[in-house]
Amino acid sequence: MHQLGTLEDLPQEYRDQLTQQNLVPLWPNMRAVLPPRVPTRKTGTLCWDYQTIRPLLLEAGQLTPMEKAERRVLVLANPGHGLSNMQATPSIYMGLQLILPGETAPNHRHTPNAVRIIVEGEGAFTTVDGEPCRMERGDLILTPAGKWHEHHHEGEGPIVWLDVLDLPLIYQLEGSWAMEGQPQVPSLARDKSFADYSAAGVVPNINFERDTQTAPMLRYPWQKTRACLVEMATHYAEGLLRISYVNPENGKSLFPSIGFGAIMLRPGEVISLPRRTTPCIFHVVEGQGSLSVDQGTALQWVEKDTLSAPGYSDITFSNTNSEAPAFLITADESPLHQYLGIY
Ligand SMILES: [Fe+2]
Repeated sequence: MHQLGTLEDLPQEYRDQLTQQNLVPLWPNMRAVLPPRVPTRKTGTLCWDYQTIRPLLLEAGQLTPMEKAERRVLVLANPGHGLSNMQATPSIYMGLQLILPGETAPNHRHTPNAVRIIVEGEGAFTTVDGEPCRMERGDLILTPAGKWHEHHHEGEGPIVWLDVLDLPLIYQLEGSWAMEGQPQVPSLARDKSFADYSAAGVVPNINFERDTQTAPMLRYPWQKTRACLVEMATHYAEGLLRISYVNPENGKSLFPSIGFGAIMLRPGEVISLPRRTTPCIFHVVEGQGSLSVDQGTALQWVEKDTLSAPGYSDITFSNTNSEAPAFLITADESPLHQYLGIY
């Protein structure tokens, strides 16, 4: 590809006239927005080490009362995107949220879609449109765009979860807003939607009717997912052992923007993921190992750590424990890439 003209090649007077008219010459910028073959990627390869972050998060609990924070969150920001832009990937926001015993995060709803992955603690629940959902380690709790949600913590000790939202995407679309509401009065039994869908391949059909709402199942318990992966491992001796989290009514991804999944690394396994266009984040539910991207320096990870890797890259995971499997929950932009025809 030959070199194109630069801004400096143009007379200053001409450039000033363009600026005055809100015009920009394309050719000096064209290679930057349409680079040859591989896109420019701001998403770095990172590991957010939970044991380092945890004391800082607990300190936030002392420094900032709930009424001053509403959502007491430390955002896992990818420096390549600019820390203050709060992006883990172009479309994904991630943050570790802390709730102390007896605290409540007030009822609200917003346009971005959200999933929370429970990191530690017991005794909390999120009420989503009237349904209280239990929150246990590794569970996914969904609050799709527009659904009311509030969090309560009745257990002892802190509860921490990882929020995963499509906030950067919705913000860029100038569609991000939130509203507060009155405290919810639960109108459904606890984990009602999970009970409805607790057997794979079976969906509720009350009065012969199928559910058509965007997220009919709100809680995806980790123990079910883990048991499924362990059972699958007895049937697949090789290949990437992975499940996708889907809407049980239609098999589609949980959200149109972010796709969620879980990976099991067999004891001692070293595996390269198929190359994909989408950047990806990984939350370690169990185990220990390393991640290397494009044969770069291996990042070590343990339980509760969270990692990110750019798209268009070679991602290799190693489970450094030869005795036990490791489990990671993944989130990526694959549904969006598929919709846009760039996957
Ligand atoms: Fe929220």
